Amino acid sequence: MTEQNTKITIKRPDDWHLHLRDGDVMLMVLPFTAAHFGRAIVMPNLTPPVTTVAGASAYRDRIVRALAPGGDFKPLMTCYLTDHTDPDVVERGYIEGVFTPVKLYPARATTNSEFGVTAWGNIRNVLARMEKIGMPLLVHGEEADPEIDIFDREAVFIDKVLSDWMTSDYPELKIVLEHITTKEGADFVSESGENIGATVTPHHLTINRNDILAGGIRPHLYCLPIAKRDKHRQALREAVSSGNDSFFLGTDSAPHPISAKETDCGCAGIFNAANAIEVYAKVFDEMGALEKFEAFSSLNGPKFYGLETNDSTITLERRTHLVAEEISSPSCNEIIRPFLFKEEINWLVVDC
Ligand code: NCD
Ligand code: ZN
Repeated sequence: MTEQNTKITIKRPDDWHLHLRDGDVMLMVLPFTAAHFGRAIVMPNLTPPVTTVAGASAYRDRIVRALAPGGDFKPLMTCYLTDHTDPDVVERGYIEGVFTPVKLYPARATTNSEFGVTAWGNIRNVLARMEKIGMPLLVHGEEADPEIDIFDREAVFIDKVLSDWMTSDYPELKIVLEHITTKEGADFVSESGENIGATVTPHHLTINRNDILAGGIRPHLYCLPIAKRDKHRQALREAVSSGNDSFFLGTDSAPHPISAKETDCGCAGIFNAANAIEVYAKVFDEMGALEKFEAFSSLNGPKFYGLETNDSTITLERRTHLVAEEISSPSCNEIIRPFLFKEEINWLVVDC
């Protein structure tokens, strides 16, 4: 639906991978997502992580209470998989409509993953139960072995875990390879069946590793998995604009205060919720694939999860605007830099 490709109206998108945090930071970042998106899969890597039905339900209540009145944003909660997760708890949370997926973090692979899985044998009974009940497994697909080069960790994980045993031992298990960053990731998903999907972030479609490291180090572009060399960014852009419905929107918006990013040992994570849908529009436009934008943003995700698409729409217009330098709020002491701060984006949400 375009008027000379200057305006595009799509069904309201969903964000299938989002970090909202908790407390004051959640209050500050939530309105950005709720303004544009119908639903979001909320990541469970709080401290302590969300591992119980009661914990997820209470977290969902805190999010819903923080929403502005009148909106219809719906948070979908995630169970954090540990070595000790009980399949009965997972199933009960799913049946009760509290858990939507389970999230697998290899221990120490990323932010707040220290309670993650240390040995694959510990989760086999949970995977078997999820396969049986049709519950999706979201995978942070990076090998956590510190000996492995950081730029190879996704490809190694695909090789040693997904290809080697997970997809053959649990052939019906619904798996989402989250925030893919490599050609290997895109190829793996393209070549797999309908039960294997992938989310792709705005930043991995936009930046490569030179943007992080060449001409000065840019901590606000550091996230995990780390952006790779440009041929991988190109492969991701081809994958999302190919029309293959296994690829769908997941921002991995992951706010960290400036103080935790601009320091000796900075945190991984990029806050992009303020302009994610606009950055995706820019990418599809650059790829000459605006007609595929709605499927990626609003249709493929619900189809994978077996949910209805949203009823309402949002409209974006080709209009250049400057991204704010920082996000702040009177109720929060922290300041956050949004993705592409002080840069121009040539698509703007004009009606939502
Ligand atoms: C995420 C975070 O900050 O919680 N960071 C990131 O770099 N993406 C964790 C994650 O999704 O890996
Ligand atoms: Zn994430």
